[in-house]
Amino acid sequence: MAEFKVVGVIGAGQMGSGIAQLAAVAGSDVWLLDKDAGALHGAKGSISNSVQRFVNKGQLSKELGIKALARLKYTSNLEDLRYADIVIEAIVESEDVKKKLFAELDKIVKGSAILASNTSSISITRLATATKRPQQVIGMHFMNPPPIMKLVEIIRGADTSDETFNATKTLAERFGKTVVCSRDYAGFIVNRILMPMINEAFHALYTGVATKEDIDAGMKLGTNQPMGPLELADFIGLDVCLSILKVLHSGLGDVKYAPCPLLVQYVDAGRLGRKRGIGVYSYVKSPKQSSQREMKFLFQCPCCSCFCFMKPKKGKPKEKEGKDEKKKE
Ligand code: NAI
Repeated sequence: MAEFKVVGVIGAGQMGSGIAQLAAVAGSDVWLLDKDAGALHGAKGSISNSVQRFVNKGQLSKELGIKALARLKYTSNLEDLRYADIVIEAIVESEDVKKKLFAELDKIVKGSAILASNTSSISITRLATATKRPQQVIGMHFMNPPPIMKLVEIIRGADTSDETFNATKTLAERFGKTVVCSRDYAGFIVNRILMPMINEAFHALYTGVATKEDIDAGMKLGTNQPMGPLELADFIGLDVCLSILKVLHSGLGDVKYAPCPLLVQYVDAGRLGRKRGIGVYSYVKSPKQSSQREMKFLFQCPCCSCFCFMKPKKGKPKEKEGKDEKKKE
């Protein structure tokens, strides 16, 4: 059984930084790689803040927190991953880009290394074809934010070996996660069910069924979800939701998965959700308008590296002024 002394994580965005943190806290030496130096810099700060939060809450000892941060190294050079026992990829949700990366990694990492993808929806079987080690390619789908959410969905490609599956499951459990296993069909379990709900919420907004606030309040209070579907879409990233829906649509061949035109329009407009400060809701005001509370909401997550629990206790995210989300004929 692999020991995973060295873990490589590629993509230092909201998912990759959380996965790197989990691996470091679990005792592995971690290389976090991103092609964008700014993303690496941001990840370093957010991981450090997140670890500090766990320490402050008494969920991690100060000593272990310091050790975890010391195990993390940051790079933009793929060659630094050559000694990794497993590489977990969390880059942009694009099959072509992920395949290109897997093909390069296959040439660099040692023969025994596992190549895992945090993809939300893309076929693991097809990603594996970019490598000469399809038996060592697997889906390891963390939920957002990785340090907090309890689930890891593991997806076996057509050729994934039992050894790779068992080793990956053991690693996820070492991270403190519960594992569910999905067969390799578009969207796997969670997004196969979640994304049609989010898409339908966009359709409800698009066709004027209700306001965004009422759609979210209806689903939150009526079905006991912690966030409404539109707020959740902003949290995941509207670009990520759109990519997943496109994969579901093409992969399962059913028109019911076709992305709502309003979602497409928001992404075209760069309204990508919380990470951009605007999506269905707006999360930033001009500096003149900003209240301390809203700045706190944006910058001081009390639990982890993300914005997840930063919503002010009272009130709702601000609506973008002058924008009409209703269907435009
Ligand atoms: P993100 O946009 O926050 O971060 C992606 C990072 O990857 C960026 O920093 C970017 O510079 C980097 N990157 C892109 N191409 C690269 C390349 N070729 N080499 C090195 N770095 C590269 O994206 P996010 O939200 O972290 O998503 C990443 C993956 O995780 C996607 O596949 C997504 O579907 C999946 N995922 C996302 C979830 C979410 O809630 N956002 C939940 C579960 C999975």
